[in-house]
Amino acid sequence: MDKLVIKGGVSLRGEVEVSGAKNAALPAMAACLLTDAPVSLERVPRLGDVRTIITLLSHLGVRADVGQDSVTLRAAGVDQFEAPYRLVKTMRASVLVLGPLVARFGRARVSLPGGCAIGPRPINLHLSGLEKMGAEISLDAGYVEAKASRLKGARIAFDVQTVTGTENLMMAASLADGVTVLENAACEPEVTDLAALLGRMGARIDGVGTSTITIEGVENLQGALHEVIPDRIETGTFMVGAAITGGDVTINGCLPRHLEAVSSKLQEAGVGVEEGDRSLRVWADGPAHGVHVRTHPYPGFATDMQAQMMALMATAEGTSVITETVFDNRFTHVNELLRMGANIKVVGNAAFVRGVPRLLGAPVMATDLRASASLVLAGLAASGVTTVSRVYHLDRGYEALERKLLGLGASIERVPE
Ligand code: EPZ
Repeated sequence: MDKLVIKGGVSLRGEVEVSGAKNAALPAMAACLLTDAPVSLERVPRLGDVRTIITLLSHLGVRADVGQDSVTLRAAGVDQFEAPYRLVKTMRASVLVLGPLVARFGRARVSLPGGCAIGPRPINLHLSGLEKMGAEISLDAGYVEAKASRLKGARIAFDVQTVTGTENLMMAASLADGVTVLENAACEPEVTDLAALLGRMGARIDGVGTSTITIEGVENLQGALHEVIPDRIETGTFMVGAAITGGDVTINGCLPRHLEAVSSKLQEAGVGVEEGDRSLRVWADGPAHGVHVRTHPYPGFATDMQAQMMALMATAEGTSVITETVFDNRFTHVNELLRMGANIKVVGNAAFVRGVPRLLGAPVMATDLRASASLVLAGLAASGVTTVSRVYHLDRGYEALERKLLGLGASIERVPE
């Protein structure tokens, strides 16, 4: 296992290009199962979770031709229908093969994802939706068995907004017999991007980007070429990097409209944010001031940006309250920030943060993807040296983060643990 060694106190300056969105690439790759024609995706980030889903798809019999930042997937030879525990336990998003497998092949056996550091990760809404579409669902030794002769359109209302739940059922409904209506659907840009790909493949989908999505099933889908949207969470992470180090960074290749909640919250905290067509310039010439943050499904403040914002608030002037409303246990970064001298008190799903003038470098441990990003950000701002261990968490969701940070002047090095 590697660790990152960061010498703090350097202001990030310059330009950085963000990669394609992990959380758009993963459902897009699962969508290849819906057709035997080739699906070519561009701007696919080279990171751990993408490698995992390629392994899973290859296990099912998909042919994957991987390019520099593209992949072409051919599901003509699929002859396996089981997503094994050894793969699903490392990445919950593996559950995204469930809907496409049942829709196209009438069967699937997918390991239940189990929990992870940020809390239980149930898929009950995925399963109840497929049942409403006529699938027979059973549980067997930690696996979900799903069977259906042909899925039928249905009206499905989600108890809570679920991103991968919406994506799974949108893919399943694309090949179902009849019309499916998803109520209280997720509106994240990654859902919209998947719908754009499905549309290119011949699916008939309306209402994307709203909480009511209507899908008229078709007999079969074609191949397509699709460029994945930029990663809004990577973009937000660099925005906070500029702010927390008192730097001036221009982030290229992003879509500012996907970051409205983050941009306005940073501006409220006194950070400079300037929007271009496909770029964002972020600067700070002093400490931010404390602001209150409450995570919420899109277009609210993204839960995937909560840990990064907390690192900034830990160095801000004044106090802030950060409330996590999406996941049960997404404060695993707090204990590590405390070891760096942060002043944070967690009560239930709220973290009360009192900013300190300077964090102190320390050895810290990553526990989940975005928590590890917040520790890197804290290390960039801290005085002294911070070593972040278990960076495989970071490698799941960020492509070449240390190379990009080095390009912005950071003193950061990857060393074997
Ligand atoms: C997606 O996860 C993202 N992952 C997560 O990003 C992100 O944090 C999350 O959406 C929220 O935005 C991918 O897109 C691959 P949910 P997902 O289903 O779909 C409850 C990252 O860092 N729920 O939207 O798994 C659930 O417990 C990752 O890149 C049910 O109760 O999240 C949670 O409280 C982390 N039953 C809430 O809904 C279900 O069947 C939102 O979960 C499904 C979800």
